[in-house]
Amino acid sequence: MRIFSGIQPTGRKHLGNYIGAITQYVALQEAGEAIICIVDLHATTVAYDPARLRSDLYDLAAVLLAAGLDPERCIFFRQSDVLEHAELQWLLMGSTAYGELTRMTQFKDKSAVQEFISAGIFSYPVLMAADILLYGTERVPVGDDQRQHIELTRDVAQRFNSRFGETFVVPEGVIPEVGARIMDLQNPEKKMSTTGGTPQGTVYVTDEPAAIIKKFKSAVTDSGREIRHADDKAGISNLLEILAVIRGTTVGRLEEEFAGAGYGDFKLAVGEAVVDYLAPVRERYTQLRADEDELEQVLATGADKARGVAAQTMTRVRRAMGVGPARAGR
Ligand code: TYM
Repeated sequence: MRIFSGIQPTGRKHLGNYIGAITQYVALQEAGEAIICIVDLHATTVAYDPARLRSDLYDLAAVLLAAGLDPERCIFFRQSDVLEHAELQWLLMGSTAYGELTRMTQFKDKSAVQEFISAGIFSYPVLMAADILLYGTERVPVGDDQRQHIELTRDVAQRFNSRFGETFVVPEGVIPEVGARIMDLQNPEKKMSTTGGTPQGTVYVTDEPAAIIKKFKSAVTDSGREIRHADDKAGISNLLEILAVIRGTTVGRLEEEFAGAGYGDFKLAVGEAVVDYLAPVRERYTQLRADEDELEQVLATGADKARGVAAQTMTRVRRAMGVGPARAGR
């Protein structure tokens, strides 16, 4: 089974990215052929600092390897190293409706806070579709916020196939039942996010233990006293989900375990569990991050493998669309 996912090298990665997506990438390496891509081209669609982008990319590469991505078992690479992503994006534009892109909630949210709304941020989901479709992907592990983008990818693939003949595999998203939408600890009605979150409510993968504990101790809950997963208990529900994923248990079992406990003790228990969970990752991260040449080497090897697959898809796409030479190799 072919598995593909992408992650942006913007800012520091947080517990939402880790629980919703990164743990899935690591687990799915066992389930099939996993391809994991750091999508730096996506990060150029909003205002950014080029030197910072490169540094953030190394941070992210080191986090992913520290989390357990194994370049021997998966293809791990940087999007901009494989030119086919940009080419396929363009070729898919003709099969994407303008109206579809205007309906993307991420576009609406992101463009609302940008002074300059680039054409790139508008066509962002088409590049994401290209990422996925280039590799004959069957499963795409993502958090809940990418659901609409996966739907669009499926629609574009189906439209292309019916227009130009069967070319693409129509992929499916893999969204975890628990932990697909980790919320901001200070504002549990909003998802944890690098750009839109509160600093105290966002737990970074590389945060110091003391900082993690502080953030959990000050997590916003509610005026009740029951530790229960419920629609009107966003803060407690979020903490229950975080702990359930980390301990590999269910929310129901945790509700039983913490029945009668106070909010303060519960928040501390979750904070301590997160510290233990992230400590080994942080340690490996520090070692890996120190050697940028080695990180470049890992990404270059991954890009060579990715290119091999992408080039084959592009030969079929060009032929189907009547662009480029009639026969490959010319
Ligand atoms: P990005 O970089 O914003 O996020 C990476 C992954 O983290 C998940 N995620 C969360 N999961 C749970 N709770 C949260 N609070 C939370 N915040 C983020 C995201 O759902 C995502 O899976 N457009 C994508 C990157 C992308 C991509 C792709 C993904 C580009 N091409 C192809 C899959 C396939 C994005 O911006 O993710």
